[in-house]
Amino acid sequence: MKKIMFLLLLIVLGCKLNEKIIQPTGLVTSKAMVVSAREEASQIGVEIMKKGGNAFDAMVAMELALAVSHPQAGNIGGGGFMVFRKANGETGAIDYREKAPLAASKNMFLDEKGNVIEGKSTATALASGIPGTIAGIFEVHKKYGSLPISEILKPVIALAERGVVVTKFQAESLAYHRANFIKSNGKNSLFSKTYKENDTIKYIALAATLKRIAKNGRDEFYQGETAQKLVAFLAKKGGNTTLEDLKSYNAKWRTPITFQYKNLKITSMSPPSSGGICLNQIMKMIEPFNLSQMGHNSVKTIQVITEAERRAFADRNYFLGDPDFIKLPLKELVSPSYLEKRMADFSFDKASKSSDIAHGTIKGYESNQTTHYSIVDSKGNAVSSTTTLNDNYGSKIYCDELGFFLNNQMDDFSAKAGVPNLYGLTGSEANSIAPGKRMLSSMTPTIVEKDGKLFMVVGTPGGSTIITSVLQTILNVYEFDMSMQEAVNAPRFHHQWLPDEITFEPNSFAKDVVNQLKEKGYFINEKNKEIIGEVDAVLVLPNGKLEGGADKRGDNKAVGF
Ligand code: DON
Repeated sequence: MKKIMFLLLLIVLGCKLNEKIIQPTGLVTSKAMVVSAREEASQIGVEIMKKGGNAFDAMVAMELALAVSHPQAGNIGGGGFMVFRKANGETGAIDYREKAPLAASKNMFLDEKGNVIEGKSTATALASGIPGTIAGIFEVHKKYGSLPISEILKPVIALAERGVVVTKFQAESLAYHRANFIKSNGKNSLFSKTYKENDTIKYIALAATLKRIAKNGRDEFYQGETAQKLVAFLAKKGGNTTLEDLKSYNAKWRTPITFQYKNLKITSMSPPSSGGICLNQIMKMIEPFNLSQMGHNSVKTIQVITEAERRAFADRNYFLGDPDFIKLPLKELVSPSYLEKRMADFSFDKASKSSDIAHGTIKGYESNQTTHYSIVDSKGNAVSSTTTLNDNYGSKIYCDELGFFLNNQMDDFSAKAGVPNLYGLTGSEANSIAPGKRMLSSMTPTIVEKDGKLFMVVGTPGGSTIITSVLQTILNVYEFDMSMQEAVNAPRFHHQWLPDEITFEPNSFAKDVVNQLKEKGYFINEKNKEIIGEVDAVLVLPNGKLEGGADKRGDNKAVGF
């Protein structure tokens, strides 16, 4: 018996010695942590948890605090997805994605010749789906919240009334979009004014809306004074949203996508987001390759990841859409034999061509803006939420009376098969417009377990690049031994099948790596995208402490205690 105990001890020690010690470089705290796009929102999340609230209470507060402090993406006029893992290991997901209005129709963004009318699905009142955010947070609160809603909303309302200081990033963003704000809302609208860095913007109308919501609950937004005003406002702007649309909106609990990558268990968002299923396909296609040996951002690593991404996005664009409207071949898309076949023609010698790839054949059906925040509370509950207006400031249409922007999420539908949307994504019948249908998303709020324990909470904005940024962040920690903060900051690349090119963050990849890829036949784009995502993540360290990764590409901030 003693001998066995001794042997076991040696094995455990051996494993421990084998585990590389990675020095954290981000904020480290011992109990709880949140990371989001704005310090104000992160502070409020922590304040709620210090008051005894759990990760779900913090989610409700942060979703709304981002609507106040990060108006280009934080919202009550948009929607999102949340994946959670409770301290007891239970996982789940909620879909508070927008729905197409009941008056929407398949060809609503086409002219009489059948061509897509430029701007109609992005910059008009018809571009908005029915917002899901308020329904989402109330549903989460009903099931898992612990503090009263009024207490959770108090610091958010105070922030809106006190105002938020304009950062350098924000001043640049507001200046860039100002002409469009004036075009959509006239000269006197809140965002049509000129703001400099360090100015304070007070959100008085939004504070009043939030106060009514705190008092009257979820139905204030979907049936009350807010609903009435919103419908009247949108009608004046040429929209098609009705009171019936708002009344019938519901957030939905969904079974998340879960899969194993080596000794990691990944839990991510299920359809109507493509995030989880694409991540699943890509990670399973790359699992047989020894990435850590090939090296971070080496030619071979980039090739393997690119080719898996190319194949996954080809499937995404053909097969995926709202599961309430179409049958999705989810099991088939992630079956080992299917994925093995998908990668069978990959060679390190030469790039595949997207024109040769298309979507796979399966054996019948079995059935610039978004924002992400990650939360771990002191009990070990984890929440990963991504929320969006779609484009920066959505449709740019701002309802001054109610204090929020409207989304332009209708552009995430495929307005016409094969015609690219804002993110260059094409789609098929599976993602065509229909009344009450949810548009396909790429949002990938994700939670990772290692050896059965909470390991990472991660997500990002970035349209189609969301999936590939989440992927690279997980790999940076797990395969390439980076700290959470290093993993989030590391240069990223992206391939989405069409267009057939690898997008690199400009000036961040070695010249000879890029040249070798060109020689192998890869098309390279180093110009187009300013940034690829803004990842906000939390890592559980081997000693149980938490490390935050707040992306250097924006105002992101980790706060904890
Ligand atoms: O749901 C989606 O996939 C898109 N509407 C997300 C948009 C986005 O991430 C914009 N951020 N840069």
